[in-house]
Amino acid sequence: MKINIMLNGRPRTFEVGPDDYLLDTLRNHHLYSVRKGCDSSNCGICTILMDGKPVLSCSILSVRADGHAFTTVEGIAEEADQISDYFGDEGADQCGFCNIGMALLAYTMKRDNVEPTEEAIRHHLAGNLCRCSGYQAQVKAIKRYMEAKR
Ligand code: FES
Ligand code: FES
Repeated sequence: MKINIMLNGRPRTFEVGPDDYLLDTLRNHHLYSVRKGCDSSNCGICTILMDGKPVLSCSILSVRADGHAFTTVEGIAEEADQISDYFGDEGADQCGFCNIGMALLAYTMKRDNVEPTEEAIRHHLAGNLCRCSGYQAQVKAIKRYMEAKR
């Protein structure tokens, strides 16, 4: 069947199967910024925004995406560049595999005016796993990004 979605502000139509998940549909259409980790709703690596809210693209059937608006990191390119600079400054860039999901979460925290405390940031990052770090560098980087934007 065909689904019609808004992707990063542009209308897109995709042909999908009944058991396809959005993660694969997007990657099959060259959106490789949407990363595949556990593929079982456990790591947060595949996070994107659905109607502005963070979701796990590996857990959304593509047919259920019909009619909704999605944002990947390409849709917040300018903010993502700034977040990436803070990640670099704080040494949060190790393998970088988790950074895109975390950047989308950082963006939504700033957009929603979340208090930039370590506790609040850790709460929002819960479920987004990083295999390389103890999260300290990411939390510091996101805190600085959010504080600079207030
Ligand atoms: S790939 Fe979706 S949560 Fe891990
Ligand atoms: S920096 Fe490697 S998984 Fe987070």
